[in-house]
Amino acid sequence: MTSPGTRRLPVVGGNWKMNLDRNASRTLLMGLRQRLDGLDGVEVVVCPPVPWLSDAHDLLAGSTLHVGAQNTHWEPSGPYTGEVSAPMLRGVAEYVLVGHSERRWAGETGAETNRKIRAALAAGLRPILAVGERLEESRAGRTENVLHLQVNQALRGFTAMPPEIILAYEPVWAIGTGEAATPEIAQARCVAVRGMLAERFGEAAAQAVRIQYGGSVTADNIAGYAAQPDIDGALVGGASLDADAFTAICRAVAARAG
Ligand code: 13P
Repeated sequence: MTSPGTRRLPVVGGNWKMNLDRNASRTLLMGLRQRLDGLDGVEVVVCPPVPWLSDAHDLLAGSTLHVGAQNTHWEPSGPYTGEVSAPMLRGVAEYVLVGHSERRWAGETGAETNRKIRAALAAGLRPILAVGERLEESRAGRTENVLHLQVNQALRGFTAMPPEIILAYEPVWAIGTGEAATPEIAQARCVAVRGMLAERFGEAAAQAVRIQYGGSVTADNIAGYAAQPDIDGALVGGASLDADAFTAICRAVAARAG
């Protein structure tokens, strides 16, 4: 359903999750800068854990690589021990993951995802909104209902699609399992999500939105996703901890754009 002529710059995110000590983080950041700075045809976003965000900001400054946070609170400040707000992140990051299934599993509700998106946008951050069904929901044939609900809850109250928002389709059953969705299934789900955005915000707005695939993406399987017309890059977990693997993924995505 992609209109001819629609060009969306693909974006590859590296979600490090709760991994790497400070030394390993710095080594990876420098390795990524060395390998990926200046790569055309793809936007690269590195999302380290909170304590290493300011290292990432400093070590990637002046390069084409972007820094993202993995989560945010919805309030700008206040008595929320252990939390980090969007205005705080703004000093060190440009992007922020919102609604990741690992956050939803930890109790984040659809309403909270919505508040986090609003807080991120208000602070000038670009949210990467993750949606995806669990295995039992997939088996019950409820995938599209789940995606519809998650998209609508996350974007509740928006009358126009904020152009800063990126979506990531991440089936929960594919995350960290090695059981990646086939490129055809991932493409079909991204088309479905794009259709939901078109219903809400119109076809032109939906066509402009970048939708990543995430879930057991590797240097070996990325080409299949990169070849799909409605998949605009990837959100990578495990393979983003290896400079060579993540570089190969970014290059494969950039090659399709070229
Ligand atoms: P894996 O690539 O390790 O499956 O993780 C995907 C993910 O959750 C990215 O946000």
